[in-house]
Amino acid sequence: MNNWAPHSWRKKPIRQVPTYPDAETLRKVLDQLSGSPPLVFFGETRRLRAQLAEVCEGRSFLLQGGDCAESFAEFNEANVKNTFRVLLQMAIVMTYAAACPIVKVGRLGGQFAKPRSSDVERQGDVELPSYRGDIINSIKFDEKSRIPDPERMLKAYAQAANTVNLLRGLSHGGYANLQEVHGWNLDYISNTPAYQRYEEVARLIDDAIAFMKACGIDPAKMAEIQGVDFYTSHEALLLSYEEALTRKDPVSCEWYDTSAHLLWLGYRTRHLDEAHVEYLRGIENPLAAKVGPESTFDEIMGLVQTLNPMNKPGRLTLVCRYGADNIGEKLAKLIRDVTAEGAKVVWSCDPMHGNTIKSAGGLKTRPFEKILLEVQRFFEIHRAEGTHAGGIHLELTGQDVTECTGGAIAVTDENLKSRYHTHCDPRLNGDQGLELAFLISEALSRERTARKADLEKLA
Ligand code: PEP
Ligand code: CO
Repeated sequence: MNNWAPHSWRKKPIRQVPTYPDAETLRKVLDQLSGSPPLVFFGETRRLRAQLAEVCEGRSFLLQGGDCAESFAEFNEANVKNTFRVLLQMAIVMTYAAACPIVKVGRLGGQFAKPRSSDVERQGDVELPSYRGDIINSIKFDEKSRIPDPERMLKAYAQAANTVNLLRGLSHGGYANLQEVHGWNLDYISNTPAYQRYEEVARLIDDAIAFMKACGIDPAKMAEIQGVDFYTSHEALLLSYEEALTRKDPVSCEWYDTSAHLLWLGYRTRHLDEAHVEYLRGIENPLAAKVGPESTFDEIMGLVQTLNPMNKPGRLTLVCRYGADNIGEKLAKLIRDVTAEGAKVVWSCDPMHGNTIKSAGGLKTRPFEKILLEVQRFFEIHRAEGTHAGGIHLELTGQDVTECTGGAIAVTDENLKSRYHTHCDPRLNGDQGLELAFLISEALSRERTARKADLEKLA
């Protein structure tokens, strides 16, 4: 990699990153992080890259989801476990109903730093610097709380280590065993149509396993049944934290960011000659980049060439976050133009960030029907272009929150505030996530049927 080092981003212009007033503490914190153990390992990260190459070639589907912003206050075993469980349930629905392998990636274990559209927040007559995520400052609205505090990076690292440890246990310690699908229950009772459909899928999986056993196959000996591969990801925003966790693999001599398996470039830091792109181009982790209504084709191709110069499948995912009202006009052309360049990318849909509105009561929300509509359009466009709708990127939680309006239990504008807990953007709850999983399964099945028909025509 030419002229790249973990610190080479420091010479570039940078956005969305605070200046720390306490430089001495910052230096000590970064030293400590540089000597701390990695949170994820080279081999795991390479395995994810290989699995994403399968997505790129149209043979699997990427499910990426979790909190908009992880927080110190909301950290506990139940919250991590519930988010993991919803992702697992969604993945099993899609695997079963669409017969498609699902690559599972959490927005967890490091998703702390937040880009903001404004540098300041105003409440009444008081104006203060914006909250930038728990890894940087506090959400409390007073002057001292909003000062960037380097020590927060150590707390975030410790929480990420705890989270990753719990996720490893949940993935491979028995909980995720396919024979336990009925046991992946909610902490609250849900009787929605999506949960009833889930119970039906779980029953069919039980039947399939009983059938396998009757045929003499022992599920206890099959790693694929005993556990799942589950990966972590976050936005690579706070580059000093990412740099401090960057390590060189002594065998391959490649650099990896060991803070997560996959890192993504946020929409507000997507500028080609700036610091965030500079940092990401040098690490070997699989990468994602957000693209949206203001991204130009030249800019996107610049990112594709800079972040994936060898055009390796699985290296780069384009996460499209246009909004239900913009996707139709923009995405088809983008797919056509990127495909014409021969660029190998995974196409993923983020139906959250282009559909954010303010409720009548002043809370940020997202209408669930707009989210469903953007996902439907994403699949329709790919079907029309003959390309693979490769993934979905969601903000969701397993907690019973009321943050996005709509869904089977019909969260309304009025009851939004009853369980509105997010530290940043509104998330789907478990019911809404499952409902979406069934919709995606149907779309994936249609894609497969269309592909089969095309192959038969060719034969
Ligand atoms: C996010 O994913 O939380 C986010 C801020 O998204 P975007 O960069 O697409 O606005
Ligand atoms: Co968000």
